[in-house]
Amino acid sequence: MAPSTSSVITLTVNGEKHTLPVDHRTTLLDALREHLDLTGTKKGCDQGQCGACTVLIDGRRTVSCLRLAVTAEGRDITTIEGVADGDRLHPVQQSFIDLDGYQCGYCTPGQICSAVAAIEEHAAGWPSAVTADISPEAGPPALTADEIRERMSGNLCRCGAYVSIVQAVARAAEARTADSEEAVA
Ligand code: FES
Ligand code: FES
Repeated sequence: MAPSTSSVITLTVNGEKHTLPVDHRTTLLDALREHLDLTGTKKGCDQGQCGACTVLIDGRRTVSCLRLAVTAEGRDITTIEGVADGDRLHPVQQSFIDLDGYQCGYCTPGQICSAVAAIEEHAAGWPSAVTADISPEAGPPALTADEIRERMSGNLCRCGAYVSIVQAVARAAEARTADSEEAVA
């Protein structure tokens, strides 16, 4: 008997479970866009180079064009459609709007998902490739423009809206810090 080339899988996307049959070669990006009609996640290069397809899996950034849908079963997937808290935009979304962090908007869902995770990675003390001192005594690095550029370097913007994107990420990170300090006080 020939081996099966498809399976029925259940994906948890933005807190909702979806059961769907997929060819084993279907990428997570195609499953989201073509099977679940979640077209906020964009296809740019389809080969892992532009970041337009970035989603979060268990809170970590993933380029969904390089991930097979079958490998995402049982994981918690967040797409741009699930970043906001109901009617309340995520602070990263609000900053992109307030500071014009886009032009055509095609890369924006990926930029926003990536920024959401990048800010959390920084808050957790993760260094980046441009962090000068990675010793534990140095503490978390300041989220400078260079740090943001490096941490967001997997997300290309063909419109070149980088200046505003960096500003938007910086503002959202500041808002997150202020919220955390308020919660502690
Ligand atoms: S579409 Fe996935 S990285 Fe470009
Ligand atoms: S806003 Fe057009 S590609 Fe980034």
